[in-house]
Amino acid sequence: MKIIKVKNNLEAGQYAAAMIKKVINANPKSVLGLATGSSPVTTYQTLILMNQANEISFKTITTFNLDEYLGLDSANEQSYRYFMNNQLFNHVDIDLNNTFIPDNEDVLNPHKYDDLIAKKGGIDLQLLGLGINGHIGFNEPGTSFESLTSIVDLTESTIEANTRFFADKSQVPTKAISMGLKSIMNAKQILLIAKGENKAEAIFHLVEGKITSKWPCSILQNHANVTVIIDEAAASKLQENYDSK
Ligand code: GLP
Repeated sequence: MKIIKVKNNLEAGQYAAAMIKKVINANPKSVLGLATGSSPVTTYQTLILMNQANEISFKTITTFNLDEYLGLDSANEQSYRYFMNNQLFNHVDIDLNNTFIPDNEDVLNPHKYDDLIAKKGGIDLQLLGLGINGHIGFNEPGTSFESLTSIVDLTESTIEANTRFFADKSQVPTKAISMGLKSIMNAKQILLIAKGENKAEAIFHLVEGKITSKWPCSILQNHANVTVIIDEAAASKLQENYDSK
């Protein structure tokens, strides 16, 4: 696992976007796994600038997002489809038909999403954020390491954490459809971004803790190609000293 310490979110985005640029330019038909939340926003902003400067093209790129709330349609500003269109897809030369987000059609047979990923050749690089409780995607503590895409219940702490994006807590969906831990581990390369003190405990479990389903992120220790980008605050509970970038 490679630990990259950055000064701020802008630097995190620049580092992550440079990694994604490498993947895209090595193979213009790459498959990217994308994430929502505040952590990847500066990455997307940097990718947009790179696209405008003709340094990268998304024309033949396929993307798969990690998760989506159940019960919110794509026109809802809090849906992850809306977020992705707004934060990235509408500003780059990607074909929207090549951007996949698990949606209501997948509810009856969610594993179809994994089949589709496999059909497209598998994910070359999976971008991840991190939940305060260590979730990746919406895989909450206790999720099986063998899980594929499925319908999941959100924990109270996740609903609480995500209330900031909604008018009030009662508006936050209690269920989502999420790629599973196995779906994530199938990616060839993983890039996780976490910032802030409220992620420090999860970062400790991800990097130095015991591998346990109580901290879903700890499964990443079993993956051969993981890069973790963190700021000082998120790194504050790590016992070992990791050099800054
Ligand atoms: C949500 C998403 C996760 C994301 C997490 C962290 O729960 N489902 O994929 O990693 O939020 O969000 P943030 O980056 O805003 O801290």
